[in-house]
Amino acid sequence: MNVLGIESSCDETSVAIISDNELKANLISSQHFHNKYGGVVPELSSRAHLQIVTPLLKEALENSSLRLKDIDVICATAGPGLIGALLVGLTFAKGLAFSLRKTFIPVDHIEGHIYSGFIMEDKPEFPYLAVVVSGGHTLLLLVESFTKIVKLGSTVDDAAGEAFDKVAKMLGMGYPGGPKIQNASLKGDRNKIDFPVAELKDLYNFSFSGLKTSVLRYIQKNYPDKKIPEDDLNDIAASFQFAVVRALVKNTKRALDYYNVKSISLVGGVAANSEIRKSFIDLAEVNGKKIIIPRLEFCGDNAAMIAFRGQKLYEAGNRYTYDYAPYPALPEGLYSDL
Ligand code: KG4
Ligand code: ZN
Repeated sequence: MNVLGIESSCDETSVAIISDNELKANLISSQHFHNKYGGVVPELSSRAHLQIVTPLLKEALENSSLRLKDIDVICATAGPGLIGALLVGLTFAKGLAFSLRKTFIPVDHIEGHIYSGFIMEDKPEFPYLAVVVSGGHTLLLLVESFTKIVKLGSTVDDAAGEAFDKVAKMLGMGYPGGPKIQNASLKGDRNKIDFPVAELKDLYNFSFSGLKTSVLRYIQKNYPDKKIPEDDLNDIAASFQFAVVRALVKNTKRALDYYNVKSISLVGGVAANSEIRKSFIDLAEVNGKKIIIPRLEFCGDNAAMIAFRGQKLYEAGNRYTYDYAPYPALPEGLYSDL
């Protein structure tokens, strides 16, 4: 069976092909031009998806030695994401499926991330704790199967990636902030400033807005002229990153103590962060759990995870009509009742 996946929820256009359970292509085109605006400009994002999606599809087919008629199932991200961006990939997929008389499967982007560990050679084992850290979401989930996910906690304000992006902006590092903060942290002292980790009533929830504000206050207090020497920038970045690591590890450890899981899977764009990866590998080792963190190309937005999730939905017998609409935000309660 040949499965085509298309992802266009934000600033990455991606096309992937899984052929007989083997990933043959996972092409990702990142829209770097948003850097100069300090964030993603939705309309420009939609236009860029529109321009690149057809060439990417052609290249993915070539790399897989397949023709369009060989594709059996066509999957695309339906949400959450930027509505215009989603519309491009989803409408493209529906149009293709309709014209070729193929099966169309809409895929939830976050579910794509949640199961992205399965694209790796070494796979998660159910039940597992999924720690989803992306630009829009921070979730702690108990994943029992391909049909049952229990939400344990989520962020009550900013997502982890959003905090990275906003702090990078405060430090004048540009967008996307995650990789920039990571690089600066490598040269900084993470123990220099004791930024706070939120303690919430709900033990599995996260909050990053207080952390973000305390970084802002620290900068305002110590650098009223807004000139921050490079060494200090590195220390602030490292200390901030360490606070995010502590927050993520703290809640995951709590869940590990309570739920008897086989593995932990750290997924989403922020899972590309080397210090967070290392801390989760250590956490898993100390607790005797298997840890699956996708390779970098499967952490950020990619169509391989969409094709994988779409194939699972298809195999479980799910079928959808061509009027399936994109959704910009996550429907409340989705993870408790899939
Ligand atoms: O999953 P993703 O590609 O898109 C969403 O679904 O949101 O995540 C993007 C987020 C951005 O906030 C970006 O700054 C962050 O992932 N990110 C990182 C790193 N690489 C990307 N954050 C921390 N460290 C990184 N190395
Ligand atoms: Zn994502």
